[in-house]
Amino acid sequence: MKLLLLRTYSNSLGTINPVAELCQKAHAIGALTLLDAAQSAGHMPVDVRELGCDFLAFSGHKMCGPTGIGVLYGRAEILDSMPPWHGGGEMIVSVTLERSMFKKAPHRFEGGTPSIGDAIGLAAAIDYIEQIGRAAIFEHARNWRDMQLSASGNCRGACSKIAARPICSM
Ligand SMILES: Cc1ncc(COP(=O)(O)O)c(C=O)c1O
Repeated sequence: MKLLLLRTYSNSLGTINPVAELCQKAHAIGALTLLDAAQSAGHMPVDVRELGCDFLAFSGHKMCGPTGIGVLYGRAEILDSMPPWHGGGEMIVSVTLERSMFKKAPHRFEGGTPSIGDAIGLAAAIDYIEQIGRAAIFEHARNWRDMQLSASGNCRGACSKIAARPICSM
């Protein structure tokens, strides 16, 4: 199996990758795609159909949410064809001596008691981000990039051509 891992946006270079185009190219050679949206989920639209990725992941704490939780999206038909990676309650349809049948995703991957408090916290964080609006957050970051560029002397010409976003760690 071939898997292309890519990120929406690089916080080292400030560049935004052409994700939809890269996903199309990967699919053309039979590869699946996993998009790491840790840096972008709080700043840019996240529409998996438009991006065309097979999987997408981001961390809760980079969305102003709790640590220890995040989101993994996968296309339903792929997830339902994958075996669970650990066992626990609430994931089983039936068990016999011969075979076990598991629920559809996401339940087949979430055996045992989930991290309920973290999920409630992450949902509140996502509501908060959506209330401000990703477009407003993106604009704020762009202004911040301009401030960085105007303070950065002779890098300005080159950086302003490639960096669509601030260059910083978070
Ligand atoms: C693109 C990207 N993916 C993953 C991570 C790591 O995320 P976490 O802190 O949840 O392990 C980072 C951290 O900066 C990141 O920038």
